Amino acid sequence: MRAGSVGIFDSGIGGLSVLKALRAELPHANFLYIADSGHAPYGERDEAHVIARSRALTTHLLDQGVQALVIACNTATAAAIDLLRAENPQLPIIGVEPALKPAAALSKTRRIGVMATRSTLGSARFRALLGSLATQAEFVLQPCDGLADAIERGVASAANPPTATEIIAACAHHTRAMGQFGLQDGEIDTLVLGCTHYPFASAVLRELVGPDVHLVDTGEAVARQTRLRLAGAVPPGAADSAPGRISLFSTGQAAHLQAAAQRWLQLDGPVETLHFQEQSAQVYQGLGP
Ligand code: DGL
Repeated sequence: MRAGSVGIFDSGIGGLSVLKALRAELPHANFLYIADSGHAPYGERDEAHVIARSRALTTHLLDQGVQALVIACNTATAAAIDLLRAENPQLPIIGVEPALKPAAALSKTRRIGVMATRSTLGSARFRALLGSLATQAEFVLQPCDGLADAIERGVASAANPPTATEIIAACAHHTRAMGQFGLQDGEIDTLVLGCTHYPFASAVLRELVGPDVHLVDTGEAVARQTRLRLAGAVPPGAADSAPGRISLFSTGQAAHLQAAAQRWLQLDGPVETLHFQEQSAQVYQGLGP
């Protein structure tokens, strides 16, 4: 392991949207990405499952020598970031949460749509964020059951993600449920993509909500935040130094992550399959705060 590695995990391929921004922001850092596809989706599972998986993945990445961790998943951030920070005080941990604040700054109609997993929207962390902005805008919350899963499956199909029928149907269903989009009073003029999978459906969403609505995701902000937090631990490297290495791992189907990484990040490297289980909940009970 070369010095200066950043560990990243998500329930699947969604975190590649964050990895893309990280690679642009820190082109000389080394990244280890784990898609926990063997235990996905997180968004419709109970919190204990997401916490156990987040702990297991963090331990594994620490064993690999990472010097920082990016939780490239809104659901895992909401469920586990406080715990992971408490248990690993030496490790810089950067999380992802729905970009409500940037959306409030952009919106003129003061009506903002938020697409996220059911688990993220129900979390105490998200509720606190929402409460802190309640006077600034009205937020229309949409738990997007099935959408992350459709995006996962869509990449394996021969069709391009923007044309995959299942993704279009899920996006249409969820945007319809939120109401009218547009720039007029009472319309939603800003749509928060509160799950790292959703940027891969942004072309479909753009078609559905029209050209004027802001689509807000967090990849670039997280990448900037990571660079600031790392300051020295993972040097950005000299302009003429070699590009960093990106290593990809999956606890599910390696071919799946490989196809997504090829399609969206033009990465041709191999994907390694990982097999490990979290420790039993019993063991963790003693470690909780
Ligand atoms: N990509 C994850 C997120 O940002 C969740 C997808 C899933 O449900 O597993 O919330």
